[in-house]
Amino acid sequence: MAYAAFRSIGAYVPSKILSNEDLATMVDTSDEWITKRTGIKERHIAADDEFTSDMGVKAAELAIQRSGLDKSEIDMVVCATISPDYFCMPSTATIISTKLGLGNVTAFDISAACTGFVYILSIAKAFIESGMKKNVLIVGAEKLSSITDYTDRGTCILFGDGAGAAMICATDNKDEAIIDVHTGADGTFADLLMTPNGGSGSAHDSLDQEANSCFMQMKGNETFKVAVRTLTKDVIEILQENNIESSAIKHFVPHQANYRIIKAVGDALKLKDEQVVLTVAKYGNTSGASIPMAINDIYEQGKLKSGELMLLDAFGGGLTWGSALVPFSPSK
Ligand code: UT7
Repeated sequence: MAYAAFRSIGAYVPSKILSNEDLATMVDTSDEWITKRTGIKERHIAADDEFTSDMGVKAAELAIQRSGLDKSEIDMVVCATISPDYFCMPSTATIISTKLGLGNVTAFDISAACTGFVYILSIAKAFIESGMKKNVLIVGAEKLSSITDYTDRGTCILFGDGAGAAMICATDNKDEAIIDVHTGADGTFADLLMTPNGGSGSAHDSLDQEANSCFMQMKGNETFKVAVRTLTKDVIEILQENNIESSAIKHFVPHQANYRIIKAVGDALKLKDEQVVLTVAKYGNTSGASIPMAINDIYEQGKLKSGELMLLDAFGGGLTWGSALVPFSPSK
Protein backbone atom coordinates (compact mmCIF):
# COMPACT_ATOMS: atom_id res chain seq x y z
CA MET A 1 0.00 0.00 0.00
CA ALA A 2 1.19 3.53 -0.76
CA TYR A 3 1.30 6.06 2.04
CA ALA A 4 1.10 9.86 1.71
CA ALA A 5 4.03 11.96 2.95
CA PHE A 6 4.05 15.73 3.57
CA ARG A 7 7.25 16.49 1.66
CA SER A 8 7.56 20.28 1.42
CA ILE A 9 6.01 23.66 2.11
CA GLY A 10 6.03 27.10 0.48
CA ALA A 11 4.16 30.35 0.93
CA TYR A 12 3.71 33.80 -0.52
CA VAL A 13 2.73 36.99 1.29
CA PRO A 14 1.88 40.14 -0.71
CA SER A 15 3.98 43.17 0.17
CA LYS A 16 1.27 45.75 0.95
CA ILE A 17 0.43 45.95 4.66
CA LEU A 18 -2.92 47.06 6.08
CA SER A 19 -2.35 47.93 9.74
CA ASN A 20 -4.85 48.33 12.56
CA GLU A 21 -4.09 52.04 12.46
CA ASP A 22 -4.99 52.12 8.74
CA LEU A 23 -8.31 50.39 9.49
CA ALA A 24 -9.06 52.89 12.26
CA THR A 25 -9.15 55.58 9.57
CA MET A 26 -11.66 53.54 7.54
CA VAL A 27 -14.15 52.25 10.16
CA ASP A 28 -15.02 52.95 13.81
CA THR A 29 -12.36 50.80 15.46
CA SER A 30 -8.96 51.07 17.14
CA ASP A 31 -5.64 49.25 17.32
CA GLU A 32 -6.36 48.59 21.00
CA TRP A 33 -9.75 46.92 20.32
CA ILE A 34 -8.48 44.77 17.43
CA THR A 35 -5.36 43.68 19.32
CA LYS A 36 -7.25 42.82 22.50
CA ARG A 37 -10.13 40.95 20.81
CA THR A 38 -8.21 39.17 18.03
CA GLY A 39 -4.43 39.40 18.49
CA ILE A 40 -4.15 40.82 14.95
CA LYS A 41 -1.81 43.79 14.38
CA GLU A 42 -1.67 43.83 10.58
CA ARG A 43 -2.60 41.87 7.47
CA HIS A 44 -1.24 41.81 3.91
CA ILE A 45 -3.27 42.86 0.88
CA ALA A 46 -2.69 41.75 -2.72
CA ALA A 47 -2.20 44.31 -5.48
CA ASP A 48 -5.19 45.04 -7.74
CA ASP A 49 -3.64 43.07 -10.59
CA GLU A 50 -2.45 40.22 -8.34
CA PHE A 51 -4.92 37.35 -8.42
CA THR A 52 -5.41 34.41 -6.09
CA SER A 53 -3.76 32.16 -8.70
CA ASP A 54 -0.69 34.43 -8.88
CA MET A 55 -0.15 34.08 -5.13
CA GLY A 56 -0.82 30.34 -5.34
CA VAL A 57 1.77 29.97 -8.11
CA LYS A 58 4.47 31.74 -6.06
CA ALA A 59 3.79 29.53 -3.04
CA ALA A 60 3.70 26.42 -5.25
CA GLU A 61 7.02 27.24 -6.99
CA LEU A 62 8.70 27.21 -3.58
CA ALA A 63 7.01 24.00 -2.44
CA ILE A 64 7.93 22.22 -5.70
CA GLN A 65 11.55 23.42 -5.53
CA ARG A 66 11.87 22.33 -1.89
CA SER A 67 10.40 18.89 -2.67
CA GLY A 68 13.18 18.17 -5.16
CA LEU A 69 10.57 16.95 -7.67
CA ASP A 70 10.58 17.79 -11.34
CA LYS A 71 7.35 19.52 -12.38
CA SER A 72 6.67 16.68 -14.84
CA GLU A 73 6.25 14.32 -11.86
CA ILE A 74 3.23 16.22 -10.47
CA ASP A 75 -0.02 14.51 -11.40
CA MET A 76 -2.67 16.51 -9.54
CA VAL A 77 -3.29 20.05 -8.29
CA VAL A 78 -5.99 20.86 -5.74
CA CYS A 79 -6.69 24.38 -4.60
CA ALA A 80 -8.64 25.42 -1.51
CA THR A 81 -10.08 28.90 -1.92
CA ILE A 82 -13.19 30.96 -1.28
CA SER A 83 -11.81 33.85 -3.35
CA PRO A 84 -11.12 32.18 -6.70
CA ASP A 85 -9.94 34.16 -9.72
CA TYR A 86 -13.34 33.52 -11.29
CA PHE A 87 -16.78 32.51 -10.02
CA CYS A 88 -17.26 29.68 -11.02
CA MET A 89 -14.90 28.65 -13.82
CA PRO A 90 -12.20 28.05 -14.70
CA SER A 91 -11.04 26.70 -11.36
CA THR A 92 -8.11 28.47 -9.74
CA ALA A 93 -6.30 25.10 -9.64
CA THR A 94 -6.38 24.83 -13.43
CA ILE A 95 -5.03 28.38 -13.77
CA ILE A 96 -2.27 27.61 -11.25
CA SER A 97 -1.30 24.39 -13.03
CA THR A 98 -1.16 26.19 -16.40
CA LYS A 99 0.89 29.11 -15.02
CA LEU A 100 3.27 26.54 -13.52
CA GLY A 101 3.55 24.83 -16.91
CA LEU A 102 2.43 21.47 -15.56
CA GLY A 103 0.69 20.34 -18.74
CA ASN A 104 -1.93 17.61 -18.47
CA VAL A 105 -2.79 17.13 -14.80
CA THR A 106 -5.98 16.64 -12.81
CA ALA A 107 -6.87 20.03 -11.31
CA PHE A 108 -9.82 21.26 -9.30
CA ASP A 109 -10.84 23.59 -6.47
CA ILE A 110 -12.66 22.76 -3.29
CA SER A 111 -14.78 25.07 -1.15
CA ALA A 112 -14.46 24.47 2.59
CA ALA A 113 -13.61 28.03 3.67
CA CYS A 114 -11.01 28.23 6.44
CA THR A 115 -10.90 24.42 6.72
CA GLY A 116 -9.92 24.19 3.06
CA PHE A 117 -6.29 23.19 3.60
CA VAL A 118 -7.23 20.28 5.87
CA TYR A 119 -9.81 19.16 3.30
CA ILE A 120 -7.30 19.21 0.41
CA LEU A 121 -4.79 17.36 2.57
CA SER A 122 -7.39 14.60 3.07
CA ILE A 123 -8.07 14.53 -0.69
CA ALA A 124 -4.37 14.24 -1.54
CA LYS A 125 -3.95 11.48 1.05
CA ALA A 126 -6.92 9.52 -0.32
CA PHE A 127 -5.82 9.79 -3.97
CA ILE A 128 -2.28 8.67 -3.08
CA GLU A 129 -3.32 5.81 -0.79
CA SER A 130 -5.74 4.52 -3.46
CA GLY A 131 -2.87 4.45 -5.94
CA MET A 132 -4.58 6.90 -8.33
CA LYS A 133 -1.97 9.69 -7.95
CA LYS A 134 1.64 9.91 -6.79
CA ASN A 135 2.61 13.57 -6.36
CA VAL A 136 -0.16 15.97 -5.43
CA LEU A 137 0.36 19.73 -5.19
CA ILE A 138 -2.07 21.24 -2.69
CA VAL A 139 -2.54 25.01 -2.57
CA GLY A 140 -4.45 27.21 -0.14
CA ALA A 141 -4.71 30.66 -1.71
CA GLU A 142 -6.91 33.62 -0.85
CA LYS A 143 -7.48 37.17 -1.98
CA LEU A 144 -9.99 37.77 0.80
CA SER A 145 -9.69 41.53 0.27
CA SER A 146 -11.78 40.95 -2.90
CA ILE A 147 -14.74 39.63 -0.85
CA THR A 148 -14.33 41.83 2.26
CA ASP A 149 -16.69 44.71 2.98
CA TYR A 150 -14.40 47.50 4.17
CA THR A 151 -17.36 49.35 5.70
CA ASP A 152 -18.13 46.44 8.09
CA ARG A 153 -15.92 46.68 11.17
CA GLY A 154 -17.08 43.24 12.35
CA THR A 155 -15.27 41.51 9.46
CA CYS A 156 -12.82 43.86 7.72
CA ILE A 157 -10.44 43.90 10.68
CA LEU A 158 -9.94 40.14 10.45
CA PHE A 159 -9.04 39.16 6.92
CA GLY A 160 -5.88 39.25 4.80
CA ASP A 161 -4.43 37.82 1.59
CA GLY A 162 -1.76 35.22 0.91
CA ALA A 163 -1.06 31.67 -0.20
CA GLY A 164 0.59 28.47 0.99
CA ALA A 165 1.34 25.23 -0.83
CA ALA A 166 2.63 21.76 -0.06
CA MET A 167 3.75 18.70 -2.00
CA ILE A 168 2.12 15.48 -0.80
CA CYS A 169 3.89 12.45 -2.26
CA ALA A 170 3.57 8.67 -2.29
CA THR A 171 5.96 6.71 -0.08
CA ASP A 172 6.44 3.08 0.96
CA ASN A 173 7.76 4.17 4.34
CA LYS A 174 4.94 4.18 6.93
CA ASP A 175 7.05 6.26 9.32
CA GLU A 176 6.83 9.18 6.84
CA ALA A 177 3.07 8.91 6.38
CA ILE A 178 0.37 11.41 7.29
CA ILE A 179 -1.16 9.65 10.29
CA ASP A 180 -4.78 10.79 10.14
CA VAL A 181 -7.04 13.54 8.81
CA HIS A 182 -10.48 14.36 10.23
CA THR A 183 -13.00 16.50 8.34
CA GLY A 184 -16.55 17.48 9.23
CA ALA A 185 -19.34 19.89 8.32
CA ASP A 186 -22.71 21.05 9.61
CA GLY A 187 -24.87 23.24 7.37
CA THR A 188 -27.33 24.07 10.14
CA PHE A 189 -24.85 26.79 11.15
CA ALA A 190 -24.50 28.12 7.57
CA ASP A 191 -25.83 31.57 8.41
CA LEU A 192 -23.07 32.29 10.94
CA LEU A 193 -20.50 32.90 8.24
CA MET A 194 -21.46 33.26 4.60
CA THR A 195 -21.41 35.22 1.35
CA PRO A 196 -25.20 35.52 0.96
CA ASN A 197 -25.16 37.18 -2.46
CA GLY A 198 -23.81 36.46 -5.90
CA GLY A 199 -24.79 32.78 -6.20
CA SER A 200 -27.86 30.93 -7.49
CA GLY A 201 -29.48 31.44 -4.09
CA SER A 202 -29.42 35.23 -4.26
CA ALA A 203 -31.84 37.71 -5.78
CA HIS A 204 -31.12 37.61 -9.52
CA ASP A 205 -33.68 40.24 -10.41
CA SER A 206 -32.04 42.78 -8.15
CA LEU A 207 -29.94 45.48 -9.72
CA ASP A 208 -28.75 46.45 -6.30
CA GLN A 209 -24.97 46.26 -6.32
CA GLU A 210 -24.87 44.93 -2.77
CA ALA A 211 -27.11 42.01 -3.71
CA ASN A 212 -24.64 41.05 -6.43
CA SER A 213 -21.54 41.38 -4.32
CA CYS A 214 -19.78 38.43 -2.78
CA PHE A 215 -18.88 40.10 0.50
CA MET A 216 -18.51 37.92 3.57
CA GLN A 217 -20.94 38.37 6.46
CA MET A 218 -20.35 36.90 9.89
CA LYS A 219 -22.08 36.59 13.24
CA GLY A 220 -18.72 36.89 14.93
CA ASN A 221 -19.52 36.19 18.55
CA GLU A 222 -21.66 33.10 17.82
CA THR A 223 -19.02 31.84 15.37
CA PHE A 224 -16.38 32.32 18.06
CA LYS A 225 -18.24 30.12 20.56
CA VAL A 226 -18.92 27.30 18.08
CA ALA A 227 -15.29 27.50 16.89
CA VAL A 228 -13.83 26.99 20.37
CA ARG A 229 -16.23 24.13 21.16
CA THR A 230 -15.80 22.32 17.83
CA LEU A 231 -12.03 22.75 17.52
CA THR A 232 -11.38 21.54 21.05
CA LYS A 233 -13.58 18.46 20.60
CA ASP A 234 -12.02 17.64 17.22
CA VAL A 235 -8.38 17.80 18.31
CA ILE A 236 -9.05 15.79 21.48
CA GLU A 237 -10.76 13.10 19.35
CA ILE A 238 -7.99 12.82 16.73
CA LEU A 239 -5.34 12.51 19.46
CA GLN A 240 -7.33 9.89 21.39
CA GLU A 241 -8.17 7.83 18.29
CA ASN A 242 -4.47 7.67 17.39
CA ASN A 243 -3.22 7.13 20.98
CA ILE A 244 -1.06 10.24 20.82
CA GLU A 245 -0.47 12.49 23.84
CA SER A 246 -0.55 16.26 23.27
CA SER A 247 3.00 16.39 24.65
CA ALA A 248 4.12 14.45 21.52
CA ILE A 249 3.00 17.31 19.28
CA LYS A 250 5.99 19.38 18.28
CA HIS A 251 3.99 22.01 16.38
CA PHE A 252 0.31 22.76 16.91
CA VAL A 253 -0.65 24.68 13.75
CA PRO A 254 -4.19 26.03 14.16
CA HIS A 255 -6.15 28.09 11.66
CA GLN A 256 -5.21 31.66 12.48
CA ALA A 257 -8.61 33.30 13.05
CA ASN A 258 -8.30 34.83 16.48
CA TYR A 259 -5.63 34.54 19.18
CA ARG A 260 -8.29 33.97 21.84
CA ILE A 261 -9.67 30.92 19.97
CA ILE A 262 -6.15 29.49 19.55
CA LYS A 263 -5.37 30.09 23.24
CA ALA A 264 -8.59 28.40 24.38
CA VAL A 265 -7.90 25.27 22.30
CA GLY A 266 -4.21 25.21 23.29
CA ASP A 267 -5.15 25.45 26.97
CA ALA A 268 -7.70 22.64 26.62
CA LEU A 269 -4.90 20.43 25.24
CA LYS A 270 -2.50 21.67 27.95
CA LEU A 271 -0.03 22.76 25.26
CA LYS A 272 3.03 24.81 26.12
CA ASP A 273 3.51 28.15 24.35
CA GLU A 274 6.46 26.80 22.36
CA GLN A 275 4.23 24.11 20.82
CA VAL A 276 1.73 26.63 19.40
CA VAL A 277 2.44 28.28 16.03
CA LEU A 278 1.13 31.85 15.89
CA THR A 279 1.05 34.08 12.82
CA VAL A 280 -2.30 35.79 13.39
CA ALA A 281 -0.65 39.05 14.52
CA LYS A 282 1.10 39.62 11.20
CA TYR A 283 -1.17 37.94 8.61
CA GLY A 284 -4.66 38.07 10.18
CA ASN A 285 -7.10 35.44 8.96
CA THR A 286 -6.20 34.19 5.46
CA SER A 287 -8.79 31.39 5.45
CA GLY A 288 -7.60 28.38 3.40
CA ALA A 289 -4.07 29.83 3.21
CA SER A 290 -3.57 30.36 6.92
CA ILE A 291 -2.30 26.89 7.94
CA PRO A 292 0.25 26.44 5.11
CA MET A 293 1.44 30.04 5.59
CA ALA A 294 2.00 29.25 9.28
CA ILE A 295 3.82 25.98 8.49
CA ASN A 296 6.02 27.88 6.04
CA ASP A 297 6.86 30.42 8.74
CA ILE A 298 8.28 27.79 11.10
CA TYR A 299 10.03 26.08 8.18
CA GLU A 300 11.77 29.29 7.11
CA GLN A 301 12.72 30.04 10.73
CA GLY A 302 14.48 26.65 10.85
CA LYS A 303 12.06 25.37 13.50
CA LEU A 304 10.44 22.58 11.46
CA LYS A 305 12.70 19.52 11.27
CA SER A 306 12.35 16.18 9.52
CA GLY A 307 10.17 13.73 11.46
CA GLU A 308 8.58 16.33 13.74
CA LEU A 309 4.87 15.88 14.34
CA MET A 310 2.40 18.64 13.47
CA LEU A 311 -1.21 18.82 14.64
CA LEU A 312 -3.30 20.92 12.22
CA ASP A 313 -6.68 22.25 13.28
CA ALA A 314 -9.17 24.40 11.35
CA PHE A 315 -12.69 25.77 11.44
CA GLY A 316 -14.65 27.91 9.00
CA GLY A 317 -17.76 28.80 7.02
CA GLY A 318 -20.14 26.00 6.16
CA LEU A 319 -19.66 25.35 8.96
CA THR A 320 -16.68 23.11 8.35
CA TRP A 321 -13.90 21.82 10.57
CA GLY A 322 -10.97 19.46 10.43
CA SER A 323 -7.76 18.32 12.04
CA ALA A 324 -4.72 16.33 10.94
CA LEU A 325 -1.71 14.56 12.43
CA VAL A 326 1.15 15.13 10.03
CA PRO A 327 4.85 14.30 10.40
CA PHE A 328 7.08 16.58 8.34
CA SER A 329 8.77 14.20 5.89
CA PRO A 330 11.08 16.04 3.47
CA SER A 331 12.92 13.98 0.84
CA LYS A 332 16.14 12.56 2.20
O1 UT7 B 1 -12.09 31.94 10.23
C1 UT7 B 1 -13.37 31.40 10.33
C2 UT7 B 1 -13.96 31.51 11.63
N1 UT7 B 1 -14.02 32.86 12.11
C3 UT7 B 1 -13.84 33.07 13.38
O2 UT7 B 1 -13.56 32.14 14.08
C4 UT7 B 1 -14.05 34.45 13.92
C5 UT7 B 1 -14.74 34.33 15.24
N2 UT7 B 1 -15.12 35.60 15.86
C6 UT7 B 1 -14.24 36.48 16.35
O3 UT7 B 1 -13.07 36.38 16.17
C7 UT7 B 1 -14.81 37.56 17.25
O4 UT7 B 1 -16.16 37.26 17.52
C8 UT7 B 1 -14.70 38.99 16.67
C9 UT7 B 1 -13.28 39.44 16.71
C10 UT7 B 1 -15.23 39.03 15.24
C11 UT7 B 1 -15.53 39.94 17.52
O5 UT7 B 1 -15.09 39.88 18.89
P1 UT7 B 1 -16.14 39.70 20.07
O6 UT7 B 1 -15.36 39.73 21.31
O7 UT7 B 1 -16.94 38.46 19.78
O8 UT7 B 1 -17.02 41.00 19.96
P2 UT7 B 1 -18.59 41.15 19.75
O9 UT7 B 1 -18.98 40.80 18.36
O10 UT7 B 1 -19.31 40.45 20.85
O11 UT7 B 1 -18.78 42.71 19.94
C12 UT7 B 1 -18.50 43.37 21.19
C13 UT7 B 1 -18.63 44.87 20.98
C14 UT7 B 1 -19.92 45.27 20.27
O12 UT7 B 1 -20.33 46.52 20.82
P3 UT7 B 1 -21.47 46.58 21.95
O13 UT7 B 1 -22.69 45.96 21.33
O14 UT7 B 1 -20.95 45.80 23.13
O15 UT7 B 1 -21.60 48.05 22.23
C15 UT7 B 1 -19.50 45.48 18.85
O16 UT7 B 1 -20.34 46.39 18.15
O17 UT7 B 1 -17.57 45.33 20.13
C16 UT7 B 1 -18.12 46.05 19.02
N3 UT7 B 1 -17.26 45.85 17.87
C17 UT7 B 1 -16.18 46.60 17.64
N4 UT7 B 1 -15.65 47.66 18.28
C18 UT7 B 1 -14.52 48.21 17.78
C19 UT7 B 1 -17.35 44.89 16.91
N5 UT7 B 1 -16.34 45.02 16.04
C20 UT7 B 1 -15.61 46.07 16.45
C21 UT7 B 1 -14.44 46.68 15.96
N6 UT7 B 1 -13.92 47.75 16.65
N7 UT7 B 1 -13.80 46.26 14.86
